[in-house]
Amino acid sequence: MELSIDIDQTLGIVDPKLHGQFIEFLGECIDQGIWVGPDSKIPNIHGFRKTIVEKMQALHPAVIRWPGGCYADSYHWRDGIGPRKQRPITFNENFGTFTRDDHQFGTDEFMEFCELVGAEPWININLMSGTVQEMKDWMEYCNRESGTDLARLRAQNGHPAPYHVKYWGIGNEVWAGGGFMTPTAYAAKYREFATAMPSFKHDLFDKEQIYRIASGPDGNKPIERVNWTRDLLKELARYRQPSIQALDLHYYNWNLANDDTPTEFDKQSWDRVVKGAGEIEEVIVQQGELINQGLAKMPTPESSMDQRLSKLELIVGEWGVWHRDAFTAKPALKQQVTMRDAVATAITLNVFQRHCDLVKMATVAQSVNVLNALFLTEDEKTIMTPNYDVFVMYQRHQNGRVIQLPAMNSEKLDVMATIKQGQLTVTIINKDYAKSHQLILRLGALATMTRHEELSAASPNEYNSAAAPDRVRKRTKAPAPFAADVFALELPNASVSQFQFRMN
Ligand code: AHR
Repeated sequence: MELSIDIDQTLGIVDPKLHGQFIEFLGECIDQGIWVGPDSKIPNIHGFRKTIVEKMQALHPAVIRWPGGCYADSYHWRDGIGPRKQRPITFNENFGTFTRDDHQFGTDEFMEFCELVGAEPWININLMSGTVQEMKDWMEYCNRESGTDLARLRAQNGHPAPYHVKYWGIGNEVWAGGGFMTPTAYAAKYREFATAMPSFKHDLFDKEQIYRIASGPDGNKPIERVNWTRDLLKELARYRQPSIQALDLHYYNWNLANDDTPTEFDKQSWDRVVKGAGEIEEVIVQQGELINQGLAKMPTPESSMDQRLSKLELIVGEWGVWHRDAFTAKPALKQQVTMRDAVATAITLNVFQRHCDLVKMATVAQSVNVLNALFLTEDEKTIMTPNYDVFVMYQRHQNGRVIQLPAMNSEKLDVMATIKQGQLTVTIINKDYAKSHQLILRLGALATMTRHEELSAASPNEYNSAAAPDRVRKRTKAPAPFAADVFALELPNASVSQFQFRMN
């Protein structure tokens, strides 16, 4: 197979927010995962599991979404502030979690975690069991500079400076567990909440343009003949539209057939999951079209108070492989992560990056111990899954220009190339369960290979565990020792390989 790269043909820039993270009070994602508490024997930084903080720092996640997910709709933010010993205990039933929630990880802890790992916070408000006032108060607590009771309360809790939270989600999967709403019902609620959001303009924060995120579709699925994006935008167009910056699409790569487990699978089941990962591409393209069609029908403003909605971004707030066994797992939704999941993860990141003109932000579900995880924990042990390595590798694409590639006559290879300051980064996924492939890469100019990394395993079923934490780890290989304009790249079966070149 051959591929010619023209570094001048570029599509757009990889926003680091495409590699964002999602954490929720589900299973052991936060409690026992990220949060172990300051008195734990597990090494921690102010209660946050030290290894996760350090390994997350290395990823530079630009954004983290919290507190859900479904849990957002039962979360009352006041339960999670103030002295930890005095916080109330509630019960968490989400997705079979079934534990008491002692609210040790609340707003201030989330903000500290974001700060420690260098991420921007994205808060999803409680639309189903919360009130408009509760949302307003939460925003005031987070963002008001000073002088109000809630700004004072934040200062009293140790944080005089505002957090400048820009991203606010209004509702989660409102077409399902978030209220089983119709687009008409949701549009009405959205209007109420979005309109009541404070602007913080008075405080003259540069960063403080509140970015309102509406609950977007479930992939491309029509629900009871409703096309979510089309019908929601139609509803919003019926009358003066409220402020809305983005739709939050959720796309799980469901692996629900009963012929495998997360770690025991054959070629057929491998192919199914790998194909499912690629299918998000069509969803994104169609959603992009639906958004454009919806925007075109937005009414012309009747008064100077109205603004015509001309831009609406697509973000993917939840994505990843969801294996059947996760439904019965203990802790809730915990599943092993093999090379199959790592390849599916890389394919999805390729899609986001290729469509960086359409997708502006994406957060993987979820970072720790839940579904498509980067980290699994077992008591004091922290295991980085092969997904972690994928995210580390993809970080090198951040802020690079995505190169438009010619179609390749191979269904087995998925290539992503970006260029940044004369450095070309090429990531190649070999989706073949059993066969290695070679790619002849033509760069059209002399280049020096500066790095070659490979994430592969002795078998596609392999994974990392407490007993063998580094069985599947990316390895650095010797780069080709000569400058050239053509390189023959060897790609093992079921692998993700990355090559970096300095263009001479
Ligand atoms: O990520 C797990 C759950 O999946 C989330 O809470 C919910 O939004 C989705 O259905």
